[in-house]
Amino acid sequence: MKFARSLAFGAAALGTLAGSTFSASAAEALNIYTTREPGLIKPVLDEFTKETGIQVNTIFINNGLEERIRTEGENSPADVILTVDIGRLQAAKDYGVTQPVKSEALEKVIPAAYRDPEGHWFGIALRARVVYASKERVKRDKISYEELADPKWKGKVCIRSGQHLYNISLIAAAIAHMGEAKAEEWLKGVKANLAKKPSGGDREQAKDILAGVCDIGIGNTYYVSLMRNGKDEEQKKWGEAINVILPTFQGGGTHVNVSGLALAKHAPNKANALKFMEFMVSNDSQRIHAEANSEYPVKAGIAVHPTIASFGELKADNVSIAEVAKLRKKASELVDKVGFDQ
Ligand SMILES: [Fe+2]
Repeated sequence: MKFARSLAFGAAALGTLAGSTFSASAAEALNIYTTREPGLIKPVLDEFTKETGIQVNTIFINNGLEERIRTEGENSPADVILTVDIGRLQAAKDYGVTQPVKSEALEKVIPAAYRDPEGHWFGIALRARVVYASKERVKRDKISYEELADPKWKGKVCIRSGQHLYNISLIAAAIAHMGEAKAEEWLKGVKANLAKKPSGGDREQAKDILAGVCDIGIGNTYYVSLMRNGKDEEQKKWGEAINVILPTFQGGGTHVNVSGLALAKHAPNKANALKFMEFMVSNDSQRIHAEANSEYPVKAGIAVHPTIASFGELKADNVSIAEVAKLRKKASELVDKVGFDQ
């Protein structure tokens, strides 16, 4: 059956192909389209193959994953979409490249706040968007998101582009809490406090804190673990220069986002895909995934990575991810309106 869907395969081969060959419908196969770094998901995929004998082909597509599957149409070899951020999961649903899944196993493990009410996407792990604070210059262990707009931080805040999907989701959560008008004032206030034009990724905010450019930055939790525990000596220094403060919204908690998965609309290996989706919330895979990615397991009772645990107990926000998804467009318009990235 290899190359039976040669057109689709040809399109796929243009990207960075991590797996070697795609067999579209062999009984033992599963094709995963992912935006995740191959190294981060390999341990859990290896375990799946070990337990089930199902051969996993991964194709890594950083940009345009949804468009790609839509272009491939009914011939798409994609079975499962594995990606990060509600922005990308929702985009897959909006592009019409997913199909709903009804699974007791998934619904039992994943709290309703972290899956699509219609079953088009499921969060398998969580990441919090937090404050990186200079160990040297910031002596506190509490902060609210609202406070980031307080003039006492003038010239002291660093952040990546407001239009990056991680920030869009955070700003969408702010709109859910404050309403649009107050969220706009808040965003203007944060912009007025910036030490420099938004740039770089989350890790660069820690780098800038070490360099003295700013005192606090906004970033995701797992990067701190990746910086501190990785092999890059420079990044180790960035990671060690900061403390993590888990900020909260007034009347809420810490903004969390999901990494998750969806069943592709024309999945040729649907049974294997469902097996994989349910495997991803098993104790084994949740533990392996949390260890490799430094994300919070979505399943209760699974240990978090020690570096992540050292940040203190996470009190996740009460705004659901599905609600955040609905407000993302407004958030993006707000970023433009206040000229956040200018
Ligand atoms: Fe990331």
